[in-house]
Amino acid sequence: MKNIQITEAAELLKKGELVAIPTETVYGLAANAFDEKAVKRIFSVKQRPTTSPLILHSYSLETINTFVKKMPPVAYALAKAFWPGPLTLVVSKKKRVPSILSAGLPTIGVRIPSHPVVRALLAKLPFPLAAPSANPFGYISPTRAQHVREQLEGKVAYIIDAGATEQGLESTIVGFQEEQPILYRRGALPQEEIEKITGPITYLAPTNKKESAQIAPGRTAQHYAPRTPMLFGDPQTLQKEHPNKKIGAINFYRPLPGLPLENQIVLSANQSLQEAAQKFFAALHQMDKKKIDLIIAPIFPDNHLGKTLNERVRRAVHSK
Ligand code: TXA
Ligand code: MG
Repeated sequence: MKNIQITEAAELLKKGELVAIPTETVYGLAANAFDEKAVKRIFSVKQRPTTSPLILHSYSLETINTFVKKMPPVAYALAKAFWPGPLTLVVSKKKRVPSILSAGLPTIGVRIPSHPVVRALLAKLPFPLAAPSANPFGYISPTRAQHVREQLEGKVAYIIDAGATEQGLESTIVGFQEEQPILYRRGALPQEEIEKITGPITYLAPTNKKESAQIAPGRTAQHYAPRTPMLFGDPQTLQKEHPNKKIGAINFYRPLPGLPLENQIVLSANQSLQEAAQKFFAALHQMDKKKIDLIIAPIFPDNHLGKTLNERVRRAVHSK
């Protein structure tokens, strides 16, 4: 079954079509990275501004070296430690990489994914895949093929269904300034893991300031947002502050007293941050489908994947 899906997806990608692909982080909306027409369609299907660069997905370090100009030594050390896996490195690009991919920047984000289906697909292709997350710009990332169908059915040639993704959060992005690593986006690979290789690194926190946003685009403070208004903090306090609202609660490990259980999701009864991360976006998708006035989300322990989760929660919060 999967082999047929992979063969069909490869044929469509070779013809310049868009295909939704599973990765270990989230589902991606993929096209031949060297087919500018196909890449333009990624931007239009996602309604994504062309100022927001895409990540290149490649099979091996060898192929990456054909479109990357220079990787600082510490980038190689990170690649060796974590590829294939949920880490994106932003490094200088060769001229042959179309500038539409990098939004005109001299750098390109690259990663070698570990998901067996995307690896089998890349092995069949003579080109890397450009793939942002397969969601409309600004909406919640998809962690199941069903999420992609709900948002993009009819707009892509094919959706490979490989079940729920393992990590559930996007890749961690590391860029370099004067060869020093900088954390551009928290993600599925915790900062603590990266620091075992690099030593302490700086995090460029999300911002709405234009100058900083240009260094590493895609870091606007609000992002990943459900359509239902959302708040985060101490759940019981939030519940008390909104007595007249129909509330849906996303909880870390136990339900909130006094709220119907059908409007609640518990992410990990045994307090595993890994499990909470895996289920978090699916919980947002599920809550956003309920007829509720307000989603409330918890604050996670502020370490490892908890840091990434807290950032995703903050970025999903908005008022209407
Ligand atoms: O896990 C992931 O990374 C998923 C899967 C599909 O691989 N992809 C993903 O792509 O999350 P996307 O497009 O949703 O997010 C890519 C982020 C954006 O915030 C973008 O601004 C940043 O990567 N980025 C890409 N190239 C960059 C560059 N040259 N400099 C700075 N940031 C870059
Ligand atoms: Mg995205």
